[in-house]
Amino acid sequence: MALAFVVLDGHQHDRAGFSCGVAALDDYLLRRAGRHQRDGIATTHVLVDDTDPARILGYCSLSAAQLYLHEMLERDRRRLPAYPVLAIRVGRLAVSQVQQGKGYGQLLLGHAVNLTVAVRQSMGVRVMIVDAKDAEVAAFYEGFGFRRTAGAALTLYLPVPG
Ligand SMILES: CC(C)(COP(=O)(O)OP(=O)(O)OC[C@H]1O[C@@H](n2cnc3c(N)ncnc32)[C@H](O)[C@@H]1OP(=O)(O)O)[C@@H](O)C(=O)NCCC(=O)NCCS
Repeated sequence: MALAFVVLDGHQHDRAGFSCGVAALDDYLLRRAGRHQRDGIATTHVLVDDTDPARILGYCSLSAAQLYLHEMLERDRRRLPAYPVLAIRVGRLAVSQVQQGKGYGQLLLGHAVNLTVAVRQSMGVRVMIVDAKDAEVAAFYEGFGFRRTAGAALTLYLPVPG
């Protein structure tokens, strides 16, 4: 068994078989992720096991965004110019319900960070941002160093390492 991250392919991946326990996140994967990808709105990355590559263990959707400086902690905005900084938004992140608690959520988030660091090598990106659906999920992100923005308690950001 080897785990792999690949970009969602509607012909290859079993989107209908994915269930994370949050209907809106299952529905996004099934009905909207492919269209968003074709339209340049968000790119969805899926985690699969090479012994059963159609089965989606988890996914995350990424898109470009921006963050206003006043949303960040003072220590994170020192020396920054007075306009919004570029961001990568983790719009959605979910792990199949039967696979939760095995570290796959952490792997997906790590993959999103790695992709963001790679983007930063070719264009300016200062932070990642996520919208947590509730306080418990916000705690999941805080466990990885995300900080709450000033304006919205459930929107969190992570400075991207250079
Ligand atoms: C939230 C979610 C992505 C976590 O994925 P997971 O694979 O179960 O999490 P992991 O096994 O990688 O856990 C990594 C760490 O986060 C912690 N964690 C996991 N779920 C958490 C939660 N809901 N709240 C707080 N911490 C959580 C784990 O305890 C673990 O910490 P540890 O290493 O100190 O033990 C997953 O439970 C999920 O898909 N939930 C339903 C969809 C959802 O809520 N998505 C978030 C959208 S905003």
